Amino acid sequence: MLQIADRLKKIPPYLFVELRKKINKARAEGIDVISLAIGDPVEPTPDAIINELCLRARDPENHRYPTDEEKGMLAFRQQVGRWYTTRYGVALDPGSEILGLIGSKEGCHHFILGCVNPGDIVLMTDPGYPAYRASILMAGGLPYNVPILAKNNYLPVFEDIPADIAKKARGMFLNYPNNPTGACATREFFDRLVDFAGQFDIAVCYDNPYGEILFDGQERLSFLMAEGAKEVGVELNSLSKLFNMAGWRIGMAVGNPDIIAAMSKVKENTDSGIFNPIQYAGIHALKYEAENIDHMLQIYERRRKMVIDSLGRIGIAFDPPKGTFYLWAPVPGGMSSLEFTNLLFDKAAIVVAAGTAYGQYGEGYIRISLTVPDNRLKEAMERIERALA
Ligand SMILES: Cc1ncc(COP(=O)(O)O)c(C=O)c1O
Repeated sequence: MLQIADRLKKIPPYLFVELRKKINKARAEGIDVISLAIGDPVEPTPDAIINELCLRARDPENHRYPTDEEKGMLAFRQQVGRWYTTRYGVALDPGSEILGLIGSKEGCHHFILGCVNPGDIVLMTDPGYPAYRASILMAGGLPYNVPILAKNNYLPVFEDIPADIAKKARGMFLNYPNNPTGACATREFFDRLVDFAGQFDIAVCYDNPYGEILFDGQERLSFLMAEGAKEVGVELNSLSKLFNMAGWRIGMAVGNPDIIAAMSKVKENTDSGIFNPIQYAGIHALKYEAENIDHMLQIYERRRKMVIDSLGRIGIAFDPPKGTFYLWAPVPGGMSSLEFTNLLFDKAAIVVAAGTAYGQYGEGYIRISLTVPDNRLKEAMERIERALA
């Protein structure tokens, strides 16, 4: 028998791979399944971005290894710098503080490989994005779950982290607007985060791919807006959700130059950078397509209202989160998350994500994604209302 590495045995199957299998099986049996489980924008990438890709793909110069390989093209990094200045008022040096990425998911992995030694503790939130745990485990790190609870607005309470854990922690993942809860951070929270990380020498990886997906006048924030943030961490960002470019695989890490250099070193020894035409398309997106974000926000706002109203009709009333295109809703009638998701699947052929897929503190919740066309979302909510009538 060929050996498969032990490190993989510790990693649970990736949530969406399992879900996809379940959906495919039901569809093969002729069932019209509607999945509200995955956050993958369904609207196309704006035309002008696609045109830029096509144009650049015709230039043989761009068929070679990407320019400035591991870091990303200077022009892309410069445009990321301008984006951070205009959107957040944060100044970045494209030479040392910006790294192009194949999406922010890749950045999570490179952050851990760049900053964490085997046996080091890495803090992550529970509930939290499952890829963090996988990255920590693959590098031989020890994930430590920090609960984020509704009563604390889904923000970690640093004083509750035992001092011996904090002392041994070398890294921390945070993500606001938060997947899965939709909660948003505040400037005041950032100050506490910088203090805590500085006190214990913990490298922060602030994952911000939903940074612009905000409702009800919620303020757009980057962790790097906080004083001292650059001394303790990096922020990951992505074009996936903002420009409907999830499949293109383009994002960025920005912030602390030492961490950026460490991540670059990992990247340089892992892949050879982002295909130049995709970087050109990314430049175009960041430069000219910010309107797409407003356009998408109107769509998500409409769908968000549709789901909140529908859940209200079946007695699921809740304070809707102000960020991301997910709704984190409580499960009705004392059921567990899994019981409720199974019920929706069996009675209505609707797939939603069980809160427990994101950690034990997700118990009692489901996550509904708004990245489905309006007519399918309407149909899904009608089916749910009928199933629970
Ligand atoms: C919290 C979080 N981080 C990262 C990602 C991955 O984004 P990207 O497409 O940029 O790799 C996702 C995608 O769902 C996410 O929810």
